Amino acid sequence: MSHLRFSIHDDRAAVGRAAAELATRALLDACSLKNTATLVVATGSSQFEVLAELAAVATIPWERITIFHLDEYVGLEPTHPASFRRFLRERFIERLPSPPAAFHDLDSMAGDPHAECDRLAGLMPQEFFDVALIGIGENGHLAFNDPPADFDTTVPYHVVELDARCRRQQVGEGWFSSLDAVPTQAISMSVQRILATRTLVCTVPDRRKAEAVQATVEGPITPSVPASILQQHPRCFLQLDREAASLLRPCDTLAT
Ligand code: GLP
Repeated sequence: MSHLRFSIHDDRAAVGRAAAELATRALLDACSLKNTATLVVATGSSQFEVLAELAAVATIPWERITIFHLDEYVGLEPTHPASFRRFLRERFIERLPSPPAAFHDLDSMAGDPHAECDRLAGLMPQEFFDVALIGIGENGHLAFNDPPADFDTTVPYHVVELDARCRRQQVGEGWFSSLDAVPTQAISMSVQRILATRTLVCTVPDRRKAEAVQATVEGPITPSVPASILQQHPRCFLQLDREAASLLRPCDTLAT
């Protein structure tokens, strides 16, 4: 049985506000329970509004929040407009009202990407993350775990090959001028490490995500739709706009 809880909003701005509110509540709850909290941040156009809204929340004690980076291309200069490290610094970290406890970002230019995975693994908390902001790709990917995704690996980060559809999405969104310019490899947080999070806030706007959303919500749990595994998570909040939700069965949308 699916545990997914989803909400459908009128537009991207409303999706972003709702996602940031969910993340804020979960971070504040974690801080009041144990004084500190951990947050995983994603990139891509789905996160524009979420990160802008969340960075403006001055009631979050940012100096007690440790931030982890969901995924990054291998071999992309950190000054490139598509660099996720650059995206997160410019759109989130530098906009916070006060510096976070730490931001453990991934180095796209690390000589050995496997060693970079190991470095980050050494910084992982032993327990679950408190909150992760995630998205779903046009091909149903979770972070950069493209289909068929590895649902079993227990390493926190791994080096993955990017599939053609994922790489085309990046060109379609304007991050790269051609398919050849898109790296073929990335470092991604693994599916199991993403699932080891207390509250998942999954933000998915746009019509071009409607098929992936339908397969995630209504289809079987399968590595060919990596995000379908979210059905198993006890606290995953899927935040959709009307277009991304447009292929869902009426009975699913009534259940929100
Ligand atoms: C992107 C990013 C991830 C993001 C996911 C969905 O390509 N690498 O950080 O969570 O894949 O992103 P989007 O919503 O932009 O498709």
